[in-house]
Amino acid sequence: MLLKIVLLLALVAQVLVLDNGLLQTPPMGWLSWERFRCNTDCDEDPKNCISERLFMEMADRLAKDGWRDLGYVYLNIDDCWIGGRDAKGLLVPDSKRFPHGIAFLADYAHSLGLKLGIYEDMGNLTCMGYPGTTLDKVEQDAQTFAEWKVDMLKLDGCFSTRMDRAKGYPMMATALNATGRPIAYSCSWPAYEGGLPPMVNYSLLAETCNLWRNYDDIQDSWKDVLSILDWFVLHQDILQPVAGPGHWNDPDMLIIGNFGLSFEQARAQMALWTVLAAPLFMSTDLRTISAQDVEILQNPLMIKINQDPLGIQGRRILQEKSQIEVFKRPLSDEASALVFFSRRTDMPFRYRSTLGRLRFPSSRVYEAQDVFSGQIITGLRDKTNFTVIVNPSGVVMWYLYPIKSLAISKWKSQD
Ligand SMILES: *[C@@H]1O[C@H](CO)[C@@H](O)[C@H](O)[C@H]1NC(C)=O
Ligand SMILES: *[C@@H]1O[C@H](CO)[C@@H](O)[C@H](O)[C@H]1NC(C)=O
Ligand SMILES: *[C@@H]1O[C@H](CO)[C@@H](O)[C@H](O)[C@H]1NC(C)=O
Ligand SMILES: *[C@@H]1O[C@H](CO)[C@@H](O)[C@H](O)[C@H]1NC(C)=O
Repeated sequence: MLLKIVLLLALVAQVLVLDNGLLQTPPMGWLSWERFRCNTDCDEDPKNCISERLFMEMADRLAKDGWRDLGYVYLNIDDCWIGGRDAKGLLVPDSKRFPHGIAFLADYAHSLGLKLGIYEDMGNLTCMGYPGTTLDKVEQDAQTFAEWKVDMLKLDGCFSTRMDRAKGYPMMATALNATGRPIAYSCSWPAYEGGLPPMVNYSLLAETCNLWRNYDDIQDSWKDVLSILDWFVLHQDILQPVAGPGHWNDPDMLIIGNFGLSFEQARAQMALWTVLAAPLFMSTDLRTISAQDVEILQNPLMIKINQDPLGIQGRRILQEKSQIEVFKRPLSDEASALVFFSRRTDMPFRYRSTLGRLRFPSSRVYEAQDVFSGQIITGLRDKTNFTVIVNPSGVVMWYLYPIKSLAISKWKSQD
């Protein structure tokens, strides 16, 4: 009897965390919005309109150009796919642009080893004015997505009230769970409440969603990357502790491969999003992306750092007068990622520092691998002076790991 009660309590306790087992590391993939928006003009622009063809072509690229094998497995539809609701109230895609339906697209993605994500909105209408998921439609829509074999849902928050969202987002989490299909759940909820406590309860979010958009949409410009970064850093004491395996902050898509970033800025977005343990959703044309941008996005050490199993979000740990900022993310095996980021606008800056200054212990000797060049810097002690050359609006990124313990007492000596 007592054992039964204990078991029951254990079950009740489990219900309090989102327990779908998904996204133990940040999701990686491709999302249509930033690059392709709500282009529905398939007559004039058949290659780029939101349509089955666009998603199938991106699926082919993900599978054939090395993306999938590096972890970029989500093929995610954003707004503007919906045609309406049928006589039973069931969602149907636009029949001209998605003639074979969403289940067909999910099968196609799965046949290539990919996962399909879809978009809806917790409100009367989606942000672009397509039918939304009102409270009375939550269960029905969750069931529809599961029947189509969808793997992720991004639920936006346009055309809703605070009360609708407070009810609707948890209701959708329950409804997705009830379908029995593991569906990763991306919530735009906090972005609609200002992203901060007391309006946002991050404990509740972590129990409800696998990832959430905290702040503004990214646009195709460096200014937008900076404004998002600034907001995340300003509020890092709140945001950093709430991220972890299965529940992530989402500073929005990577715009690498588009038109707004220089080479240095593209590397900077990749490095900074990686130390923030951010989802890596590309939103670019994978059919025409340059080799240089592919190299940034497909850097294996970068991806290993982003996907580190501890899932600890990094922080900005130093803001120097020289306008060099240092970010640090703790990784498994006592390793760390360091990003030296320049906000300067003059010329490459020679930044001199020591690991002691970056709060590493004096009891170890470290080695660093430059994430972009592959160069190894070894024998770093806490007082070892080093110099990194950081380009304007660029980064230097290190993967740093201990190679030796400096024994301080005989019985602890290992070397
Ligand atoms: C539903 O929730 C239960 C309890 O939290 C969990 O064990 C189960 O894996 C979930 N199922 C799905 C499909 O998310
Ligand atoms: C949603 O639609 C209902 C019914 O038309 C309306 O009463 C409500 O004000 C709308 N809510 C929002 C946030 O637009
Ligand atoms: C936030 O949500 C958690 C989990 O549901 C709850 O225990 C806590 O009381 C909430 N905090 C506030 C300030 O409402
Ligand atoms: C590091 O540089 C400082 C001057 O910037 C110097 O005083 C110090 O001795 C150097 N440390 C080592 C270990 O070379």
